[in-house]
Amino acid sequence: MANHVSERSTRFTESVIREMTRLCQRHGGVNLAQGFPDFPAPAPLKEAAIRAIEADINQYAITWGAKPFRDALVAKTARFTGQAYDPETEVTVCCGSTECMVATLLALVNPGEEVIVFEPFYENYGPDAILCGATPRFVRLREPDWSFDPAELAAAFGNRTKAIVINTPNNPTGKVFTREELLQIAALCAKWNVVAVTDEIYEHILYDGAQHVTLAGLEGMRERTVTISGVSKTYGVTGWRIGYCLGPTDITGAIRKVHDFLTVGAPAPLQEAAAVALSLPDSYYMELAEGYARRRDMLVPALEAAGFKTFAPRGAYYVMTDISSFGFESDVTFARHLVEEGGVAAVPGSSFYADPASGRQRLRFHFARRRETLEKAAERLSRLKARVPAGRTEGN
Ligand SMILES: Cc1ncc(COP(=O)(O)O)c(C=O)c1O
Repeated sequence: MANHVSERSTRFTESVIREMTRLCQRHGGVNLAQGFPDFPAPAPLKEAAIRAIEADINQYAITWGAKPFRDALVAKTARFTGQAYDPETEVTVCCGSTECMVATLLALVNPGEEVIVFEPFYENYGPDAILCGATPRFVRLREPDWSFDPAELAAAFGNRTKAIVINTPNNPTGKVFTREELLQIAALCAKWNVVAVTDEIYEHILYDGAQHVTLAGLEGMRERTVTISGVSKTYGVTGWRIGYCLGPTDITGAIRKVHDFLTVGAPAPLQEAAAVALSLPDSYYMELAEGYARRRDMLVPALEAAGFKTFAPRGAYYVMTDISSFGFESDVTFARHLVEEGGVAAVPGSSFYADPASGRQRLRFHFARRRETLEKAAERLSRLKARVPAGRTEGN
């Protein structure tokens, strides 16, 4: 039988995260795997979306983004980061930050060039690199605070480095990169003439006084940074598929071309509604972070009580855990056990590492869930240890 599929499509697997969601549905589990909220989106957004459809904003938007959305975006960006962007030449609106990342890497990287990625990493970055023919170079974030070794980072840069991907606040670790760390990255980008691509999708979800620093705001970085974010996480509308790239004109021109031929444009009526979201008052963002802090403070103690060791997140809405006390050799086996027997879905840690062995004793949970859902999860988790025979190892 002829092999019909491309070599590049065989070099990555289906998303483990989304597979866990399907498994969870099959077992009626509480889904703490794929990170999306189960609570309602803000009413003003929904009303604006309905108004937009009723006003017949139902045809293609301008490829690089509807004008009201781009205008609202540059205003919101200036308000929060002090960075000025030209909505006509420096903004591209895509179908989620997922498309932003792949369009940006396709626009920047030639086959054979290298892209630096911190690991553990959000699983999309691996396939994104493969799709554009890049060779990923991984730099380890080390527990318990997920800091990196400056020497290891410096050694990852070289003549073939084209870009570095930085996700802050970080999925899956909850790390928030400090200004000092970002200054080190900025210095290396300048030294090696490398473009920084930042995924700042969790920019407003911060805990315990952690501050989000946008890399583009550091000296010399405005012209060599593509800042990616979107409305999915900040406004709880992951299904709307609206993300955006902010970057200098030359890079934006290339991103726009790639985006045009990938998807033409993001959903037109939802861009109108998302423009309303970008104008929400400061109190919205404060309540967003406080709400997630409360959810974190429900899930983390429940996990600890159930026997997980946790690495407390400083941002985003995930918690990485150490599962070694359960006696399973494999995170994947344990994740299956947890959903099938315990009724809670989480993501095997190995899916965040280039070498799966590094994540064998790790499991990631998210807490973008209503209080009742987290209580249900906590109750199920509390029964977990009793279900796992003491000293169990795989094959027993
Ligand atoms: C770090 C990170 N980037 C991007 C995304 C996807 O964002 P979007 O819905 O805008 O495509 C996620 C979703 O979980 C994420 O965790």
